[in-house]
Amino acid sequence: MTTAPYLGLRPTGPGGPPAPVGREELLARLERALQTRGRALLTGPAGVGKTELALAAATRAEARGETVLWLATLPSDREIPGASAAALVASVAATVSLARPGGRRREPRPSDKASTGRTPTAPEASAVFDELPGPQRTAVAMLCREAPLDAGGWDPIALRLGIAQILRTLTRRGPVLLVVDGVQHVDADSADLLRFALHLAPPALRVAAVETPEPYGETDEPYRAPHRPDDPHAAHLWVPSEADVLLVPPLHADEIAELLIHHRLPSRMAGRIHRASGGNPRLALAVGRSLADARTPVHHAEALTLSGRARDLARQLLGAAPLAVRETLLLAALALRPSSTLVRRAGRPNAEADLAAAERAGLVSLAEDGSVTFTAGLLPSTLVHDACWAERSAGHAALAEVVDDPVEAVRHRALATDSPDENLAAEVADAADLARR
Ligand SMILES: Nc1ncnc2c1ncn2[C@@H]1O[C@H](COP(=O)(O)OP(=O)(O)OP(=O)(O)O)[C@@H](O)[C@H]1O
Ligand SMILES: [Mg+2]
Repeated sequence: MTTAPYLGLRPTGPGGPPAPVGREELLARLERALQTRGRALLTGPAGVGKTELALAAATRAEARGETVLWLATLPSDREIPGASAAALVASVAATVSLARPGGRRREPRPSDKASTGRTPTAPEASAVFDELPGPQRTAVAMLCREAPLDAGGWDPIALRLGIAQILRTLTRRGPVLLVVDGVQHVDADSADLLRFALHLAPPALRVAAVETPEPYGETDEPYRAPHRPDDPHAAHLWVPSEADVLLVPPLHADEIAELLIHHRLPSRMAGRIHRASGGNPRLALAVGRSLADARTPVHHAEALTLSGRARDLARQLLGAAPLAVRETLLLAALALRPSSTLVRRAGRPNAEADLAAAERAGLVSLAEDGSVTFTAGLLPSTLVHDACWAERSAGHAALAEVVDDPVEAVRHRALATDSPDENLAAEVADAADLARR
């Protein structure tokens, strides 16, 4: 978890800072949702720009004089009971401390009065923590490990009420924007505490939750559909209705060009970078940097030379998928016109489920007729690049058996072999003639 408060990362102009590239409209929708209904959930694949958008909303809120609490989670938080709730309390303490007149950065601790008998001098700090009734203050102090944990742990009711009260007190100073970046990592205890606190919170507390969906679930349950009703991380914890779930889409080609310029990268190949990245800004920037760093400039007709970082990002996206899904995706990457039926017939009986999971992860999109399109060109190229010869050969051999088009079949057979074969060479020549006609 990150307990650092939001520190106003950008300078703010008189009209507020500009929106991230291509996100003016989405930022306006986000702000509208927060101001009218007080809740919003940003969702979308890794690297698409959710945190960037939440940062912009936070910067604008701060420019309007609102209090911003920023809670960034880490994957390990999920296994630590109370981790996110403790980080939230620490974030409140740090934010209040920063807002103190004179701005000295000593952070008030929830246990200040309980454990030392001292009262923080800042009125805000004393209001937020010291107004808590004793048992609630003790429970909050235990959560933050600033008071010894009783044998029975903290009193859960006192803790719930204490956190709700802290947030309520904070809103007395004006609107508060709480950003929870990475709700998928919030531990179950904190999810319960937050659900309670948010339920009791006054309208002046607005919450922007940010999630990167985890489409694969646990290893023994590889294809978890997102937002199961019994899931403590389900969207309804954060937003009352689907209307407040905002999907952050990939950027268009012209926006990718603008993004590259924004990051002082050459935009000459923006169209190809857009195709390679599928409009995902993190991938696009990595590909753009690869090209900028290449010793010799890449010609428009050549394959893109990609640095380890761009490939690693693609590997990270692919690596989150179970092995079975990756094997299915490799067959789709080897096919000229991949479809779920083709891949199933080529030896992947669970092709539909595998591809549906890959679609939830934002790796492919599936059309009504079952045809499969990778969302970013870098994904199939990395799958093929990283497969060993035996895997590629077996994939092409299996596809050669099931494709309908004879030219495609010959192509797959040619790619499945590495030894000279006169008959096959003649078939390839015939197929090339056929294709030319
Ligand atoms: N619209 C944008 N304008 C400028 N830069 C952007 C934009 N969107 C994303 N970026 C940049 O792209 C990178 C990835 O964005 P970001 O970290 O917001 O993605 P994310 O969706 O939060 O990813 P994750 O799910 O991994 O947390 C960052 O370097 C960010 O600054
Ligand atoms: Mg993020």
